[in-house]
Amino acid sequence: MIALTDVHKSFGENEVLKGISASVHKGEVVCIVGPSGSGKSTILRCINGLESYDRGEISVEGLKVDRDAPSIVAIRTQVSMVFQRFNLFPHRTVLENVVEGPLYVKKEPRAVALERGRALLAEVGLAEKADAHPPQLSGGQQQRVAIARALAMQPKAILFDEPTSALDPELVGDVLGVMRKLADDGMTMVVVTHEMGFARDVADRVLFIDDGVIVEQGQAKAVLNQPQHPRTQDFLRRVLHLL
Ligand SMILES: Nc1ncnc2c1ncn2[C@@H]1O[C@H](COP(=O)(O)OP(=O)(O)OP(=O)(O)O)[C@@H](O)[C@H]1O
Ligand SMILES: [Mg+2]
Repeated sequence: MIALTDVHKSFGENEVLKGISASVHKGEVVCIVGPSGSGKSTILRCINGLESYDRGEISVEGLKVDRDAPSIVAIRTQVSMVFQRFNLFPHRTVLENVVEGPLYVKKEPRAVALERGRALLAEVGLAEKADAHPPQLSGGQQQRVAIARALAMQPKAILFDEPTSALDPELVGDVLGVMRKLADDGMTMVVVTHEMGFARDVADRVLFIDDGVIVEQGQAKAVLNQPQHPRTQDFLRRVLHLL
């Protein structure tokens, strides 16, 4: 569904992606782990065209991702993104946030969008918060709204960029629970995360990236339990120490 072939990306002199090749199949959950600044967010942003890339190719269901081509609109509606800091509109209600994309990007009839919006809020456990405003919600609740908003576009895949790292520890579980259910339901997901337990239990594959290259990739349990590369071993030792 998503294919990256020898993708290079520089910011000025700083080459941050140095030939990334990877693929994500339909229904797969792929976790991207690696140190700060290694290029994880940049990969996600290139996949849905928020960022351009310099060389190589990215495609989504065979359609080349080109930030400056008209086709990017279709790709963005098919590949939703969930950010670390929710990015909800504070002055709109929770339900209005969820139906924004369907109404204004996909031009869905209002009744259809509202009905699906309410159903999605129920799915993430927030049916009773439909008319609240985001600042009245906890971080974990806001992130679940953001996931409902991503789902409202009926995407083929969802990209998550550290969806739990801005949350208080006791709120992390609810968000991971919603993500786990999505994975069980067959959603295609690419998840940048430091939650190694989630990666081990839910991901089909893990990519370990360091300094703009994929150092190691493979089945989640293999990479996380028996990392082969010294850099992966060192990173996992440090991350697990922090916990
Ligand atoms: N818009 C930008 N302009 C210039 N440099 C950027 C920009 N975005 C990212 N970078 C640089 O690209 C490199 C990779 O950044 P990226 O955000 O992809 O890392 P990351 O792996 O997501 O890190 P973190 O775990 O801290 O989120 C960093 O050196 C960063 O400073
Ligand atoms: Mg990042």
